[in-house]
Amino acid sequence: MVQMHENIVGIDASILMHPTTWKASGHVDAFNDPLIDNKDSKKRYRADVLIEDYCAKIETKIEKEVKKAAKRFGEAFNKEEFLTTNARVLGYQEKINTILNRLGKSLENEDLADVKKLIEELEIADPLTGSKNWTDVKQFNLMFGTQLGASADSAMKVYLRPETAQGIFVNFLNVQKTGRMKIPFGIAQTGKAFRNEIVARQFIFRMREFEQMEMQFFVKPGTQQEWYQKWKETRLKWHLSLGMGADNYRFHDHEKLAHYADAAADIEFKFPFGFKELEGIHSRTDFDLKAHEEFSGKKLQYFDHEENKNYVPYVVETSIGLDRMFLAVFSNSLQEEELENGTTRTVLKIPSVLAPTKAAILPLVKKDGLPDVARKIVEDLKWDFNVSYDEKDAVGRRYRRQDAAGTPFCITVDHDTLQDNTVTIRHRDTMEQKRVNVQDLKKIIFEEVAVKSWLMKM
Ligand code: GAP
Repeated sequence: MVQMHENIVGIDASILMHPTTWKASGHVDAFNDPLIDNKDSKKRYRADVLIEDYCAKIETKIEKEVKKAAKRFGEAFNKEEFLTTNARVLGYQEKINTILNRLGKSLENEDLADVKKLIEELEIADPLTGSKNWTDVKQFNLMFGTQLGASADSAMKVYLRPETAQGIFVNFLNVQKTGRMKIPFGIAQTGKAFRNEIVARQFIFRMREFEQMEMQFFVKPGTQQEWYQKWKETRLKWHLSLGMGADNYRFHDHEKLAHYADAAADIEFKFPFGFKELEGIHSRTDFDLKAHEEFSGKKLQYFDHEENKNYVPYVVETSIGLDRMFLAVFSNSLQEEELENGTTRTVLKIPSVLAPTKAAILPLVKKDGLPDVARKIVEDLKWDFNVSYDEKDAVGRRYRRQDAAGTPFCITVDHDTLQDNTVTIRHRDTMEQKRVNVQDLKKIIFEEVAVKSWLMKM
């Protein structure tokens, strides 16, 4: 997002900012989540998430119908046609739409009584205990607070940032002026965000301390829809470039828009527990910059030389959880594979560009000078790639270890290497083995693992 785009620059803003920042952004007063308690289990849940999980279960039923039909019709099966014509599937889909529409409307109108009514009508039970004994739905603020200052009397209440975006907004003019950026341009950052999530679960899907990768793209007012569409496409293309399968992604266009947005969509990924938000793309209007102008009393405007006038830019945001992205990659990549000889192997088919170790160098045996040659190859490759050396156990077991760790290449040094300077290179996914010259290793590995090779495929 930064290195490959001339008009996007990086920043590292503070985690603790002046508390007025969060007044201006709406996080103190307007960003509240609807929560509901179960009176029997004393557990607290996000009411909207309970309803969305209920819909996800209906979706699983649709997927089951698709699987059954695919089995029944074999090659003649047309998924698109089935989804748009099968009465049972259409019924399920209509039910989901009706529920989500009603939830969207109730939240928009702040009709929390109707959210509770919906939970009761759907007979949603506490996922842990099965109890349906619910309290009313209440609003709850998700920011973590702390104190700034040594003495209790003068201490000021500050918050850990719940999103990195506001650090970009308050620095907008500093970056624009010092970087001499012209609209349209973006500011991006990777950094920690903190939310007092009520239910932090599903491994690292929802955490209280997590890492966001966000970009705010500043545009001329009136052009935001065009940029919103462009960023939706660009970001989906980026996800697809990882090769995790187009069927695993979909857009979810928001019915209920946050107070700052005039359009919003999620890129959802099919996690092992269903389709869930992975990234958000939001057209945030000029809400944030205007609010910071108002609360700080300082102008946050851009002088457009072409138009010869000042204005507050509109913003299109892309926002993705780094940890959640990791979970998507990891859950999709870790596979148990049946081999032709009837055995199985665990293989982490992580995109090579992301693999923590790019190659493992393995001497066939621990004698006859093979470890020395292998070590020399490690010494040569480690300037360019993360590589590892492994001499323990039979070579087959070493291959399996590297497969499970996602290492794209295993390079085996044997007795022929001493004669002709060639090694066997084995690919993690195909398990194909080739004899190559040691001098060619760098080029072969680079072609597979380089960011360039991956991005050029986009
Ligand atoms: N600035 C916009 C914003 O923060 P968001 O939809 O609340 O929007 C953006 O969050 C992304 O951050 C999500 O799509 C998700 O990937 C990640 N995220 C949000 N809350 C999270 C949590 N509690 N744990 C892990 N990732 C989270």
